[in-house]
Amino acid sequence: MPTDYEATSLRDLLCGSVSTSLIGQTVTVCGWVAKRREHGEHLAFLDVRDHTGILQVVVDGTVDARSEYVVRVTGTVSHRPEGTVNDRLATGEVELTECTVEILASAEALPFQLDDRIDTDEQVRLRYRFLDVRRDAMQRNLRLRAAVNRSLRAAMDEQGFCEVETPLLWAPTPEGAREFVVPSRLHPGEFYVLPQSPQIAKQLLMVGGFDRYYQIARCLRDEDLRADRQFEFTQLDMEASFVTQDDVMAFVSRAVLDAAEAVTGVRPGPIESMTWTAALDLYGTDKPDLRFGMQLCDLSEVFAATDVKAFGAPTVKALRLAGGAELSRSRLDQLTDAAKELGAKGLAWFRITSDGLDSPLARFLNDTESQAISNVDGAEVGDMVFCVADEYAAACKVLGALRVTLGSRPVGEGPHHYVWVTEFPLFEGIDDDGNLLAAHHPFTMPHPDDLELLSSDPVKVRSQAYDLVLNGWELGSGSVRIHRADIQSQVFSALGISDEEAENRFGFLLGAFKYGAPPHAGFAFGIDRLVAIFAGEENIREVIAFPKTQSGSDLMTGAPKSITARQIRDLHLKTTKGS
Ligand code: AMO
Repeated sequence: MPTDYEATSLRDLLCGSVSTSLIGQTVTVCGWVAKRREHGEHLAFLDVRDHTGILQVVVDGTVDARSEYVVRVTGTVSHRPEGTVNDRLATGEVELTECTVEILASAEALPFQLDDRIDTDEQVRLRYRFLDVRRDAMQRNLRLRAAVNRSLRAAMDEQGFCEVETPLLWAPTPEGAREFVVPSRLHPGEFYVLPQSPQIAKQLLMVGGFDRYYQIARCLRDEDLRADRQFEFTQLDMEASFVTQDDVMAFVSRAVLDAAEAVTGVRPGPIESMTWTAALDLYGTDKPDLRFGMQLCDLSEVFAATDVKAFGAPTVKALRLAGGAELSRSRLDQLTDAAKELGAKGLAWFRITSDGLDSPLARFLNDTESQAISNVDGAEVGDMVFCVADEYAAACKVLGALRVTLGSRPVGEGPHHYVWVTEFPLFEGIDDDGNLLAAHHPFTMPHPDDLELLSSDPVKVRSQAYDLVLNGWELGSGSVRIHRADIQSQVFSALGISDEEAENRFGFLLGAFKYGAPPHAGFAFGIDRLVAIFAGEENIREVIAFPKTQSGSDLMTGAPKSITARQIRDLHLKTTKGS
């Protein structure tokens, strides 16, 4: 049925709304000519398309409307003659007859066909993105994105959050990626930084008494692009005061599950939680894809005093692949190479056969070791067991990646599995100067039970940081923030950030905290990633209207581009290009 926004001064309704209930009525539609067929000299059929569908238009006489011309058609809604009904089209039972066709704009031949069944080179699609988004698939994806945004806004509004816009011309933020900088014309030699996220701004809003803030925020990071990463992306960013981690997780769960329900029609069950340690132990990663089992088994104790050189390492982890005994030698070599590329010394494999283990290493194992491998994850004859012996982190990384290679499916394939990963370590690794690195960002509150360890054994300190993971993709991150100056200075000192540097980098935030900072916590998740998964797309480019290529170019506008000598002078810049 036509809805009230369909009628404009130029049309009565959208093509997809023309149905048998309007038979006999005269209507006007507008759209693009998707196809034109001539039947002799005096009869032409046009398929007129808008974003809601395709309508067949029958024209007596000739009409000079070619493919992709923009037309306005007035005609009578009629039943299609018997035998010509098209079941594949929603409008397949009707057509417009006795039509007059007005050409609103002509069109040159398109550089590629808009048919979704034809695989067009992505470079061509991106160069002509304005045409690419006329395709059904892109229309669907971008409209799905709008529906997700709509539902997220409603969920946040209903939970008492207030939408506040924060600046794009800003100062450095502590997210850790390289930043895009913008030269200042009025302040020679000085620069703005485009925000990696509204992190600091939203914490300042907490000091400002906003209590519950959110924003559908554009963020910018100059980092290497991948399937799930663009320079510009969009977060649902939120922060709240007088809350705990559980409160924040509940706000975010509600918003994400509402969005899932809005676009799929089904509300997923409550989101489960798992600690970071459990995620690593069982899945070898902090982004576990829980759509399939294949949990890692720890055999470190079994091999603690082994004579087998290949297993002489602090951690031995194993992974069972059901039915994997059939893997060919060349596939096993490939998997071994992939493991080595990730830093493993090797990848041990054992076929489970009715005669015991089949592997180049089998004869070196004692009975207990053989038995343990044969029992990994309930292994049965016909299965394969892979083992990696290494430091804990390396063994997890390699087997976690192998698990995904062997078990995973396309990221959008359902049923979707959400999981909260909690209790991340506060610090990860050590920088070149021997200082600890913040795992999330330097304002993350340590776990209350680990405050003592901050000075004695900081690597062991857990944080109140949490991630939301969907189908093996990190959707978002958040944390309870430090609002107490004493804890903040302890964390800065562990991170090797001097008072002077802290003042320099975050002075305005730390200064603001002196004027009454409520306890607060927040979260942000990537809308591009969420929508890509809902849309069943492997690359977030498919849900972004005008994305960049892998190498960061915009093929349509040609950006990045050189600017004029005059602009360079006005911005007080000197370029070294070509010198
Ligand atoms: P974080 O840096 O983890 O946290 O980012 C949160 C989420 O933003 C998305 N994301 C990206 N999406 C596409 N392209 C990128 N280059 C990209 N980088 C990040 C991811 C990621 O999980 N301020 C903190 C949040 C907080 O603590 O409140 C933050 O930005 O989905």
